[in-house]
Amino acid sequence: MNETTYPTMRMRRLRRTPQIRSMVKETLLTPEDLIYPIFVKESISSNEPISSMPGQYQYPLKNVVKEAEEVASLGVPAVILFGIPQQKDEIASQAYAEDGITQLAARAIKERLGDDLMVITDVCLCEYMSHGHCGIVENGAILNDDTLPLLGETAVSHVEAGADMVAPSGMMDGQVGAIRKALDAGGHSDTPIMAYSAKMASNFYGPFREAAESAPSFGDRRAYQMDFSNSDEALRETELDIAEGADIVMVKPALAYLDIILRVKDAYGMPTAAYNVSGEYSMVKAAAQNGWVNEEKLTLEILTAIKRAGADMILTYSAKDAARWLA
Ligand code: PBG
Repeated sequence: MNETTYPTMRMRRLRRTPQIRSMVKETLLTPEDLIYPIFVKESISSNEPISSMPGQYQYPLKNVVKEAEEVASLGVPAVILFGIPQQKDEIASQAYAEDGITQLAARAIKERLGDDLMVITDVCLCEYMSHGHCGIVENGAILNDDTLPLLGETAVSHVEAGADMVAPSGMMDGQVGAIRKALDAGGHSDTPIMAYSAKMASNFYGPFREAAESAPSFGDRRAYQMDFSNSDEALRETELDIAEGADIVMVKPALAYLDIILRVKDAYGMPTAAYNVSGEYSMVKAAAQNGWVNEEKLTLEILTAIKRAGADMILTYSAKDAARWLA
């Protein structure tokens, strides 16, 4: 390449003033890129702080609408709901109950906010299972095919309660196809699926499991979630989800997986989400509480980096803070 170099070319020319830096900025983070997770718990009557996630709460049903209104007022377009039921069993019956906590929350938010806020629901069984695994368990094994009908039923019940989009996160093979089929059969062919396609068996989920009360009571999730060492496999997972009807694909976690976000976006050009998970959030909080980092600047840098890697949207516990900082 026959490029002019130093001293004729000086890269610092375009870094001299805020205006010029802003003109050449390649990645612009906005509140519209963000999705805020909300934990709603059936058995409580006031907001309960989640100790491992400073600034995050479990909400009782009666406070969920207020929280959703705040999210919408900040210009964040969507929430993703995680329900914590009172009753857990071996078939996750509260996951697909018409009056389950997620269904009640979705209904309440949509009744109040209508088109002002999009409601996405996490479709997984772990919070509803007495053993905390994401599928039906038999003799210590997590059964794939027996779990699929329950996921289909759960998704349909969420949509019938008002959910605008469903997000299957259980990493069962065929779950996206099963949910697509169930939604279509239920007359919901216009409801999109945001698939947690490349979801790793990650140590970054630790704080979430306190928040969602979904830690497995035996073993771990490595027999269904992906090995975090693999990125070709992440592409195969994503490709299968696209073939099964995913409208949006997701990489999770985000920050340690920017390479995978980039590959997925490059390979498929799909609307791509990334989940900036609980451990990523809590690490920044802890460091900030120690005075080791600037929370605002570091959080915005992380979110910008995730977008720069190729994410069109980011699920993040920092959504409300970021929206305020960006305003
Ligand atoms: C449910 C689910 C998990 C997360 C989102 N959906 C936890 C898990 O797989 O154990 C993690 C989110 C986070 O850590 O913020 N299966």
